[in-house]
Amino acid sequence: MSANSVVEICDSTNDLCRALGEEGHPSGTWISARRQSAGRGRLGRSWVSQEGNLFLSYLFRPSHRDERVSWAPLAAGVALLTAAEACGAGRGLGLKWPNDLWRGEAKAGGILCEGVSGPKGLFIVIGIGANCASEPAALGIPVASLGVSVDALRPALVRELDHWLGVLDSEGPARIREAFLSRSVLAPGTEVTWQGRTGQVSGLGASGELQVLADDTGKVENLLAEDVSVRPRADRKASG
Ligand code: BTN
Repeated sequence: MSANSVVEICDSTNDLCRALGEEGHPSGTWISARRQSAGRGRLGRSWVSQEGNLFLSYLFRPSHRDERVSWAPLAAGVALLTAAEACGAGRGLGLKWPNDLWRGEAKAGGILCEGVSGPKGLFIVIGIGANCASEPAALGIPVASLGVSVDALRPALVRELDHWLGVLDSEGPARIREAFLSRSVLAPGTEVTWQGRTGQVSGLGASGELQVLADDTGKVENLLAEDVSVRPRADRKASG
């Protein structure tokens, strides 16, 4: 396997990228595949998606061991949305915390970040899946496709990742916060549910965590990686 290339098939591009990181390849190295046979999603789920869609993993070596590390997934989400729009994905794209790409109320892409700490220091594998041509059937949630060519999206995405992770690394998270919030599906005030609980989004914390005002405790709580959904309107009326 060579760095910065597209392989025909692999288990998971995150595994290939991790191997490149362990060999000492620099920040900005990427690897992509036309198909994956054992793709992984967030929270232990699998990621099953067809040829014609994007599978890409990007190596990020943060220069600082501070809150910038935890903003990397959000920076990658901003990069994916920007690249998709530059490739003509059209209107209606948004970011659902922490880093899903949505079209309307359906998922069009997802990101799995895996941190690796080894003898050559900490690096983060940022794995990105995007529904360029078709919607994966197995996600169990509404899904959408972007209607863009994977071969156009790939270089645009790498350029945007270089840009946004460079901004994060050199300046800190302020511009990532601003860019993310300007396209966030979970804007402050949005009524949400998570783990059977309900509340209202109040903002993003210093490490990119989602802050919610919980209905049951009346307190602002920090969510780190939980699945959060917009609360259906009917559900809000029914429970007052
Ligand atoms: C999610 O929304 O659950 C995250 C999905 C991440 C999928 C991508 S596809 C490329 C990379 N390789 C993997 O095995 N997973 C990520």
